[in-house]
Amino acid sequence: MTMVDHRFDPVDKATFRDGMSRLGSAVNVVTTISSGTRYGFTASAVCSVSDTPPTLLVCINRASSCFHAFENAAHFCVNTLMPGHECISDHFGGKTSTEDRFSVGDWEVGLTGVPVLANASVSFECGRISSVDEATHHVFFGRVIDIRQNDQRATLLYCMPTSMPRPHEGSVSRTGDRLAVYTGPPVSLHTKAKLVPIVQGRTTEFR
Ligand SMILES: Cc1cc2nc3c(=O)[nH]c(=O)nc-3n(C[C@H](O)[C@H](O)[C@H](O)COP(=O)(O)O)c2cc1C
Repeated sequence: MTMVDHRFDPVDKATFRDGMSRLGSAVNVVTTISSGTRYGFTASAVCSVSDTPPTLLVCINRASSCFHAFENAAHFCVNTLMPGHECISDHFGGKTSTEDRFSVGDWEVGLTGVPVLANASVSFECGRISSVDEATHHVFFGRVIDIRQNDQRATLLYCMPTSMPRPHEGSVSRTGDRLAVYTGPPVSLHTKAKLVPIVQGRTTEFR
């Protein structure tokens, strides 16, 4: 059911993107296989839905070259990247051909046949249970049927990318950007420009 209150206009796209750039999220590569061909794309729009039963969601742009593979996929895998996996993020987030993408990274085959990144921070192998279109994106929900975790507790995060245009500025400047992250386990931040290690159990600030 769609509910829209027409008394209020949505904020403009640049303002929205600037606001969302502060949200911070893990960098994942979402994969599937269709007719023997592997597909994958970099995704930050991944979210836990419920632990009863274990369910997550992924948003994919319907204009993506691999959208049709995911639209019809019965299974998929969310591979959360480690610090040092920036090249995998770039490869799967760029205009690389479908099979070429898997030339970067060490890929294994999951229970359901989907590609699983061998040294991911964590991999969630899922059966697709439902999906819905919203705006430019397709949101698909997966029931988690297998999880593989790296012995090392670390994750690559994406936050306040340097290429994000600021509304009313026209150009990008990181002057004044400041981020504090509290984390138990070690985490790193992927800002496209640099990788910042976060000290265990502390609030770390950086500019
Ligand atoms: C850090 C990062 C996060 C991204 N998150 C998403 C996402 O959540 N959903 C999505 O559809 N595309 C996302 N993208 C963009 C896709 O990865 C990218 O459009 C796609 O892989 C390349 O498009 P193509 O498959 O049409 O060539 C992201 C890209 C990057 C670099």
